[in-house]
Amino acid sequence: MEITAPCGGQGSCGRCRVQVEADSLSLPSEREREVLSDAELDEGIRLACHTTVDGRTRVFVPEMSRPRRQQLQLSGKTRSVVPNPGVRKVLLEVPAPTLSDPRADLDRLNEALTSAGALPLGEIDSALLGRIGPALRQDDWSVTLSIDGGDLIQIEPGDTTEDIYGIAVDLGSTKIAAYLVDLNTGETLGARGKMNPQMAYGEDIASRLSYAAERADGAHRLQQLAVDGIGELMRALCEEAGIPPDHVLKVVVVGNTAMHHLLLGLSTTSLTAAPFVPVAATPLDVRAKDLGLPGAPGATIYFPPPIAGFVGSDHLAMLLTSELNRGRRALLSIDIGTNTEISLSVRGRTTAVSCASGPAFEGAAACWGMRAAPGAIERVWIDPETQAVRVSTIGDAEPIGICGSGILDCVAGMVEAGIVNARGHIQRDARGVRATAEGPPELVVTETAEGEAITVTQRDVEQIQLAKAAIRSGIEVLMDNEGISAADLDGLILAGAFGTFIDPLSAMEIGMLPAVEPGIISQVGNAAGAGAVELLVSTERRLEALDIGRKIEYLELTVYPDYSRFFARALRF
Ligand code: FES
Repeated sequence: MEITAPCGGQGSCGRCRVQVEADSLSLPSEREREVLSDAELDEGIRLACHTTVDGRTRVFVPEMSRPRRQQLQLSGKTRSVVPNPGVRKVLLEVPAPTLSDPRADLDRLNEALTSAGALPLGEIDSALLGRIGPALRQDDWSVTLSIDGGDLIQIEPGDTTEDIYGIAVDLGSTKIAAYLVDLNTGETLGARGKMNPQMAYGEDIASRLSYAAERADGAHRLQQLAVDGIGELMRALCEEAGIPPDHVLKVVVVGNTAMHHLLLGLSTTSLTAAPFVPVAATPLDVRAKDLGLPGAPGATIYFPPPIAGFVGSDHLAMLLTSELNRGRRALLSIDIGTNTEISLSVRGRTTAVSCASGPAFEGAAACWGMRAAPGAIERVWIDPETQAVRVSTIGDAEPIGICGSGILDCVAGMVEAGIVNARGHIQRDARGVRATAEGPPELVVTETAEGEAITVTQRDVEQIQLAKAAIRSGIEVLMDNEGISAADLDGLILAGAFGTFIDPLSAMEIGMLPAVEPGIISQVGNAAGAGAVELLVSTERRLEALDIGRKIEYLELTVYPDYSRFFARALRF
């Protein structure tokens, strides 16, 4: 049974509460005594991450501690791409051996290949060597070879030239999205997503990197979880389309630098301390089977290069698909997540920054926060005159919590209606605000079906304030570095699930985005996924991405002159 664990077992978030029978358990830790009240401990409430089970016991995982199914943003704005995946199939009619021509199967195969105008095969995987003899004899010496860059990756009896499939994967820290693509036509045949199973070890990248660093098998465990998640999606996509998984000839994986390193089994130590250097920032091809992923016996996974320690190949894929710079003077591209990557392209020059925006926008960190799932409040309207609050929920279900876009709307409404002041303090005398004499104030947004108040607390407002300041200061630094202002922008792209669902006007109201003409904003969905598909379908796109990657300049915010001043200014509402 999965348990939500935003802090990755550090004992700081208190979200992994379970109810247990007292026997056969470790005594409450110091951390638990800080996070849980005496009454909760008396009721048998414990933090799952801090409790050791010594024998038989019974554990109840309450609703609030269970991860909810989340709305996953899979589709992104796509461009049509002429297929040229680099992997191809060749149908060969191989002369059968005779007593007067008893040459070996492989020699005959290579001769037939060179007669067809191709080069002889390079190195051949041992599993494929074993398939050559049976494949040649099964369909009267007619075989189809799948070749990628001169290497044999699959051999099948008969003519299978129509079936060339590939899978593009966007490995995010929160979700994994995968797309099955017909590489003959470039058409996407199916898309699937799932939460990244690594979430059990922390919702943000920092928690996972510290898990990888602190446990002997931590990095391996995280790698295995990513492999399991991707493999599950690949098999499900193939099953849905009626395609055997070994017909997948090529895979492309994009992701942030930490995900890239963890999946490849690269050390993440250099990502945890300044100057945050990746181990490898070149494109890599790795055999799918070496990572334990499905596919044709010799199928490779292409990993486009990360841009910097905290700007990954997912951002590169997004820039590729967002028609960077075409006909625009100044384009700002923002991919909002627990780590937000921002690029500014001005006159053919692109500069990128990475901001630690944290999980506040994903809803999970707030008091009543939850992921975007049925029952989550996704829109909030506050009348600026009367301060009356209205909400709408996903699926029109009874409200059970607030997701990221709802919290953003709510804070924007609170700012506009004067419920929150410019410094981020909730005003005690505002309508709908409740507060005890000693406790911080909170706004009652609505009630659950059981009559419990769903609130946005002072701490929630502060979390949003820090997250929006991280993003806005990154934007301001980029504009300052180029000597432009918001009025010079003629394009603003918001990508990622949160960037797709938010109301950009709310984002401007709280100052997360600079005030721009709403008409220049495009919400493009999962642009990283769409970019991964382009990278899968076309070798030209791969070269284009490498070119974009080479030209991007990375700016480290913490060493930018006066960065703290930019951040302090961005904190104000
Ligand atoms: S307190 Fe247990 S996962 Fe955060």
